[in-house]
Amino acid sequence: MRRSPRTDLRWSDVTPRASFLSRRQMMAATAGAVLSAMPRTGQAGIATVPSDYSTGEAPNSLADVTGYNNFYEFGTGKDDPAAYAGSLTTDPWAVEIGGLVERPGSYDLADILSGVTLEERIYRFRCVEAWSMVVPWVGFPLSGLLDRVGVGAGARYVAFETLYRPSEMPGQNHAILDWPYREGLRLDEAMNPLTILATGLYGEEMPNQNGAPIRLVVPWKYGFKSIKSIVKITLTDTQPPCTWNQTNPREYGFYSNVNPAVDHPRWSQASERRIGAGLFAGRQETLLFNGYAEEVAELYAGQDLAQDF
Ligand code: MTE
Repeated sequence: MRRSPRTDLRWSDVTPRASFLSRRQMMAATAGAVLSAMPRTGQAGIATVPSDYSTGEAPNSLADVTGYNNFYEFGTGKDDPAAYAGSLTTDPWAVEIGGLVERPGSYDLADILSGVTLEERIYRFRCVEAWSMVVPWVGFPLSGLLDRVGVGAGARYVAFETLYRPSEMPGQNHAILDWPYREGLRLDEAMNPLTILATGLYGEEMPNQNGAPIRLVVPWKYGFKSIKSIVKITLTDTQPPCTWNQTNPREYGFYSNVNPAVDHPRWSQASERRIGAGLFAGRQETLLFNGYAEEVAELYAGQDLAQDF
């Protein structure tokens, strides 16, 4: 895989862009667009460093990001996760990392985060349902964690699993999906610098409804690939089963890269509704790979993007 040349930049090189970003956000805040989105405590929360991978687009408000969610473990309504995810206990939390890795084990979240530089990554987020947001995540590249546990010989895919705890996740008492929620990536997708494990947003710890305490964010794929509340990561040599793909393979493929030219069987993917844009904003065009083609198109060279198995 060709690495994005931008990863060679040091922080000092990106500072001018970073300060440009914060100026933009200050201006947006002055205009009232993100005022309601300031951290709830009003204090600086988690210490993060800015990232050159962040978009300059204004983030959605905290109310939008934490009030309009998909997290079927807490119900299928967009406001169910905010209403019911408070019951989830996220401390203690461990992630079992196994399969084709050199140092398998159950890793405490604190161990996973020790020595890790948390970044702010402001990403576009495009749901397969044709709505979108801009979210200021707090996280770190998944590649760093995989390097630390050591990718084993023959590993080609990474499988993820969400917590299964029906006592705290009421949706799991209903057969809406085959629980636990599962997702997967090809190893080169997992190692791409855009792929992060997020532990927060808006400079604060991850709200439960957004997938506390640790979730995946893959910004060039439809949102359902970004699995929440992860307890298991397994490296494999075969394509792992993924919840939505298994539930309805005709509608949800394994890759599920954002692609305006390939419609969902029941609706067009050519445009999207930006949450919070206002009644008269109209829809905006959806971009190939959600606008991240420069970073990821290479991963799919020679692959027919209309075929998604
Ligand atoms: N992860 C789990 N465990 N359960 C889910 O229902 N929904 C997915 C994804 N990850 C989901 C999940 C879908 S469809 C989307 S669009 C995103 O989470 C929504 O993330 P957000 O609520 O933080 O915007």
